[in-house]
Amino acid sequence: MSVTHTLEADVLRRQDPQLADILLGELERQSTTLQLIAAENYTSPAVLAALGSALANKYAEGYPGGRYHGGCEMVDVAERLAVERAKALFGAEHANVQSHSGSSAVLAAYAALLRPGDTVLALGLPYGGHLTHGSPANFSGRWFDFVGYGVDAETGLIDHDQVRTLALAHRPKAIVCGSIAYPRHIDYAFFRDIADEVGAYLIADAAHPMGLVAGGAAPSPVPYADVVCATTHKVLRGPRGGMLLCGADLAERVDRAVFPFTQGGAQMHTIAAKAVAFGEAATPAFAVYAHQVVANARALASGLAAEGLVVTTGGTDTHLITADPAPLGVDGREARGRLAAAGIVLDCCALPHGDTRGLRLGTAAVTTQGMGEEEMVWLAATLAQVLRGATESQKVREEVRELTGRFPPYPA
Ligand SMILES: Cc1ncc(COP(=O)(O)O)c(C=O)c1O
Repeated sequence: MSVTHTLEADVLRRQDPQLADILLGELERQSTTLQLIAAENYTSPAVLAALGSALANKYAEGYPGGRYHGGCEMVDVAERLAVERAKALFGAEHANVQSHSGSSAVLAAYAALLRPGDTVLALGLPYGGHLTHGSPANFSGRWFDFVGYGVDAETGLIDHDQVRTLALAHRPKAIVCGSIAYPRHIDYAFFRDIADEVGAYLIADAAHPMGLVAGGAAPSPVPYADVVCATTHKVLRGPRGGMLLCGADLAERVDRAVFPFTQGGAQMHTIAAKAVAFGEAATPAFAVYAHQVVANARALASGLAAEGLVVTTGGTDTHLITADPAPLGVDGREARGRLAAAGIVLDCCALPHGDTRGLRLGTAAVTTQGMGEEEMVWLAATLAQVLRGATESQKVREEVRELTGRFPPYPA
């Protein structure tokens, strides 16, 4: 089924051609440029169908069997299915699938475990902590007393000695592990030990690696963390949204922290789409996909290093790479603009120990398109040529168009 076909057949084209053109324009952009934004992916037509279903009309405050609205028979079944699939997929005792986003899930985890003013230890923002990990621009930095740990200046790896020293000195109520830009596996057993040593809760914000965990391509935080927060998009390839996993002992606190404490009515179309995505992620094909995502990221990281970019930590264990393009004579912000003109879409990001900004790349979307290591080698070389100014961006734009034509995200 082609998404274009769905849209063209849809009443939207007749009723609101202006908006239909915008949607088709975005589909065209996604289909003819390379999406290397580490947080993005292409959901399946089945996930898109659930998102566009009549469940979008339904109000459903509360939880299955205990709603504040009538008529919840079908959405109750959908939510129970999503919860059971999430529990089975990740081996968790309890799942809450109502969080509207990754940030909402983190907010709910804090609400379940903390009180305003509590001390929390998390990866500092310059090293890849998320806004919800203590940014002064975010509720987290205003309501809690965040202490930031960092990464080793030489290796770029999380400085475990510093984590322990800070934990002993500050005795936080919670320790957060998880990042927007850390390319290596997180040692959850280490964080569990430190949390136990200082009597803290351990919150794993596994928004990025959770899809790899589902496919068996990354270690799971579930056996170690008191609460795991995640997004259902990114590598997991579901709709934009969040979820929380925890043990049975914290189930009620987590559920009440989501509703009624931080959210109102659940978005049932998104929850149905989450159920579809969890079902897809439980298949052998998804495990193959998750391992290929990592193989592609490793090939891309090696290619970028061979071209002279400085790859943080020297490589990756995941879908995500951060790299400094400075040796090619350009900083991350300028690099992002030049690459966008060539049809290569990615983010720039803070680098652990640089004054300039670097690049953040991910392989979840291109792997969904079916690309492999061969294409990643081409991509690294092409990206470097664009940054060196050795090739016209218009020429690369055509090559990207040809490549995406061979690997369409939504085949006709
Ligand atoms: C580690 C981490 N936590 C939280 C979030 C927030 O997710 P959302 O944008 O869905 O609120 C992200 C998003 O990239 C993330 O990487």
